[in-house]
Amino acid sequence: MGFAEIIWLDEVGSTNSLLKEWVMAGQVVEGAVLAARSQVAGRGRFERTWVAPAGCNLTFSAYFRTDAGFPALASIPMAAALGIREYLQSRGIEAQCKWPNDLMVGDKKICGILSERFATDGGGDIIILGIGLNVNMRPDDLERIDKPATSMLEQTACGYSLEDELRVLLDYLWRWLERWEAGGFADIRDDFVANCWRMGENVVVGDGDSHMSGILLGFGESGQILLELEGGEVREVWSGDVE
Ligand code: BTN
Repeated sequence: MGFAEIIWLDEVGSTNSLLKEWVMAGQVVEGAVLAARSQVAGRGRFERTWVAPAGCNLTFSAYFRTDAGFPALASIPMAAALGIREYLQSRGIEAQCKWPNDLMVGDKKICGILSERFATDGGGDIIILGIGLNVNMRPDDLERIDKPATSMLEQTACGYSLEDELRVLLDYLWRWLERWEAGGFADIRDDFVANCWRMGENVVVGDGDSHMSGILLGFGESGQILLELEGGEVREVWSGDVE
């Protein structure tokens, strides 16, 4: 099937919010993608905002369904991150996956993923996968972001057609989601570990309210992070960010 139907709009609030409305109203079929040239109310995880200068970056959302259920759903952004990593590699950019859903080039963020799930009557879940990828953002604009960030332009000194890149990126994304759907996290775990930011290092995992520090040992069978705390106890963490 694949992400076949790509709809481009000049300006939206949030592509995730609008695509969800369309899905709920039955206006689009599975595989639909909504991309915006300008997003004025972009959302990130933990109620953060996502800001991108108009016409510069990829800001889009993709719709698919899955019967995987909990707790397997937790690893969807990890599969998506691997797809985006492979796409970036095809453009000569070596990125790493920051659990659970960012892509980093060194210590700079290049992409964020917001995966939202909605239950359906007939069983199964609707997934709206929102992706913000810094494509043509220039170094002076990147410096205005509150955390270290980079773009494809900064990494390669090339400018990109957003329309062309989105089509290529969606192929990578679909392939990794298909693989995840067929084999679950078990099938992508080794790839995630091999390309994981800060693997084996001392990290802090936090969700805004609470923080825990320890050594990033690896991942449980549904993608939860395994942290070795001081003293040797191993804790599973299901939600948060690695810092
Ligand atoms: C994060 O890093 O916290 C996730 C950022 C996700 C941003 C994308 S941009 C397209 C889509 N629409 C939104 O409102 N958010 C996501």
